Amino acid sequence: MTGETAHKLRGDYSRMRPDYTVDQEWSRYSEDEHALWRRLYQRQASLVAKYACDEFNQTLQALDFSGAIPRFDAVNPKLRAATDWQLVAVPGLLPDLTFFEHLAHRRFPVTVWLRNPEEFDYIVEPDIFHDFFGHVPMLFNPVFADYIQAYGQGGIKAHALGAIEMLARLYWYTVEFGLIDTPRGIRTYGAGILSSGGELPYCIESPNPNRIGFDLLRIMQTRYKIDTYQETYFVIRDFRQLFDATAPDFTPYYDQLRGREPYAPSAVLAGDRVYHRGIAPVRAA
Ligand SMILES: [Fe+2]
Repeated sequence: MTGETAHKLRGDYSRMRPDYTVDQEWSRYSEDEHALWRRLYQRQASLVAKYACDEFNQTLQALDFSGAIPRFDAVNPKLRAATDWQLVAVPGLLPDLTFFEHLAHRRFPVTVWLRNPEEFDYIVEPDIFHDFFGHVPMLFNPVFADYIQAYGQGGIKAHALGAIEMLARLYWYTVEFGLIDTPRGIRTYGAGILSSGGELPYCIESPNPNRIGFDLLRIMQTRYKIDTYQETYFVIRDFRQLFDATAPDFTPYYDQLRGREPYAPSAVLAGDRVYHRGIAPVRAA
């Protein structure tokens, strides 16, 4: 994922290949790390059953990664068969263009290291639990998998056009923090939520945040919070809506939006399709 990279990154980038990939070296995970994975998994599994979309839950149950930190080389044949994606091991966050290149070629970068026990509830950088538990099940969904590839292709273009900030907001409000309207009510498919113990119930049940219908240009103009729960979540009708909205060339959109002041994360606009207006969105400091 893209992210705030001003601080020193935590992973070991000393042995990576030019495309930033490394070997997972699964045998080097300790028993304590496998035990921590099991605890993280168990806590999240009970929550996603209630708050995640069916597509996520069905894959999670079918694959069952509850017993130990998963081996990427064991998952890859199944992922290849389902959607022709592959997982690649990486030391952590990647430069934007490298990240986009991987996605555009249907390779999903997964961080190899696991958080410390003290970071059970919150971690600053994405670790293997966030990357794998949050992202990988959705890569088994064909429409969503195509969307992620299209995002990568769009990212390469946005990089050349100086529009990454606008495009990154789309990734944030969909792949990381997206909600979906289902016959069983609003659920989530966003990895940032799916890998968080606190934000899973919050995004669905709390009266505090806004829940607003997906609108591509609106999202690309909306700032987001990286250090608190989101003040606004955007709701898609289905994954096809996401793919179709993002199929066109974004170049004219960027031209249209460039130079405009972005909306605050808590803003509700006249044109919004409001599922729920937040009663107390967390205000920016
Ligand atoms: Fe992520």
